[in-house]
Amino acid sequence: MKAIAINGSPRKTWNTAKLLENALAGAAENGAETELVHLYDHDFKGCVSCFACKKIGGKSYGRCAVSDGLAPILQKVSEADVLLLGTPVYFGSETGEMRSFLERLLFPFLTYTPDYASLFPGRLQIGLIYTMNIPEQYLPAFGYDKIFAATQGTLSRIFGNCELLLSTDTYQFSDYSEYLSTCFDAEAKKKRHEEVFPDDCRRAFELGAKLTADVKG
Ligand SMILES: Cc1cc2nc3c(=O)[nH]c(=O)nc-3n(C[C@H](O)[C@H](O)[C@H](O)COP(=O)(O)O)c2cc1C
Repeated sequence: MKAIAINGSPRKTWNTAKLLENALAGAAENGAETELVHLYDHDFKGCVSCFACKKIGGKSYGRCAVSDGLAPILQKVSEADVLLLGTPVYFGSETGEMRSFLERLLFPFLTYTPDYASLFPGRLQIGLIYTMNIPEQYLPAFGYDKIFAATQGTLSRIFGNCELLLSTDTYQFSDYSEYLSTCFDAEAKKKRHEEVFPDDCRRAFELGAKLTADVKG
């Protein structure tokens, strides 16, 4: 069994990466072979609208024809049983790199048929992790809950299952006094990082364990 995690943050040791590491640790406990991919290490673009993945009888039908730094990662995802996606929220959505990754991952499997049927063979267990500054109680007011649910819904429809994990009110700087950030209460952020983030990590571990358990059946 293989579990692959995709880090959509440019930072390799911060909130998103830590949650993904915990999720992979949970997957490893169930015997999964694990790998963490940092998207920002790779040179790639989003979908270029070539439609080779939809060309009837074409040699790339149902798969992305673009040959760049993302091609080997998409190949690994297609061989995985569990996919863990982690992204910070940037301006109310996934990071640009994560969105580009999702375009390339999703479009080849989506058919332009009346029911938009999925070409994905089998079932991929997906965990979708978002980290963000915003405290949890403000999610509906900013419409974030609907944005997360939309991506979760698309992934579920194409791959079979997608579970959501949110880590809110995250710690963004190691020293808030060095940056203009007076809209935040640095002490409260630090306290939350020490007291609540470990619980987010535990939930991420449990997510990795659950998704791999579901693969085993
Ligand atoms: C360019 C940029 C835009 C951001 N936009 C938002 C936002 O719209 N909403 C929010 O809650 N947090 C926003 N954040 C904060 C990050 O989502 C948050 O700090 C996240 O946990 C960072 O993840 P990381 O520590 O893994 O890099 C933004 C951060 C950056 C750098």
